Amino acid sequence: MKTVILYASRYGTARQCAQDLAKLLEGEVEVFDIEHESRKVNLSECDQVICGGSVYIGSVNAALRQYCIHRAEELSSKRLGFFICGLSQGEQAEKDLKNAYPDRLLSQAAATGIFGTVMRPGRLHVFDKLIIKMVRKQMELDRYLTGEGNYSTLDQEKIRRFAAKMNGESLPESVAPEAEQPEKE
Ligand SMILES: Cc1cc2nc3c(=O)[nH]c(=O)nc-3n(C[C@H](O)[C@H](O)[C@H](O)COP(=O)(O)O)c2cc1C
Repeated sequence: MKTVILYASRYGTARQCAQDLAKLLEGEVEVFDIEHESRKVNLSECDQVICGGSVYIGSVNAALRQYCIHRAEELSSKRLGFFICGLSQGEQAEKDLKNAYPDRLLSQAAATGIFGTVMRPGRLHVFDKLIIKMVRKQMELDRYLTGEGNYSTLDQEKIRRFAAKMNGESLPESVAPEAEQPEKE
């Protein structure tokens, strides 16, 4: 079994999820940053493809989405998994996942995941800080801009379950309630 993981990440959260998945998956795994390494990607010999990216103002990285659109035919012949990282939870996150990838591919996915985020306010580029300040009321972002610590909603259990599904394990439905508040690291 060979799996190719394609990710797009600005501050490293989606990259970390891709690397965590790579460790949990059985068989050979190749991981590519789709923005900078798309030329190296060869789908012809893989059985599974996982695409994962972070959400910025409601959208995943354009290069990742475009790749999925342009390669939809080839992708649809593989076992597929899709994930997003972001602050949103619940219904909004479900909408973001649906917007991120083509419907046709999502509907045949073996696994989908909404993994959460790690926010490190101190590391944000000036432009991103400005955007957050502009939209923080709508997105309830104040808690991420105050205080010194990092905030994490990243859910390792969801990553493990996603990997187990891609590995073909049958899982009981999770009974754990969704985390409502981010934890301070
Ligand atoms: C400018 C900006 C806009 C963002 N917009 C959204 C958004 O629309 N929805 C969301 O769920 N998260 C949003 N986020 C949070 C990021 O998706 C989150 O921090 C993500 O984990 C970053 O992942 P990365 O390190 O892989 O780029 C935004 C963050 C920034 C800095």
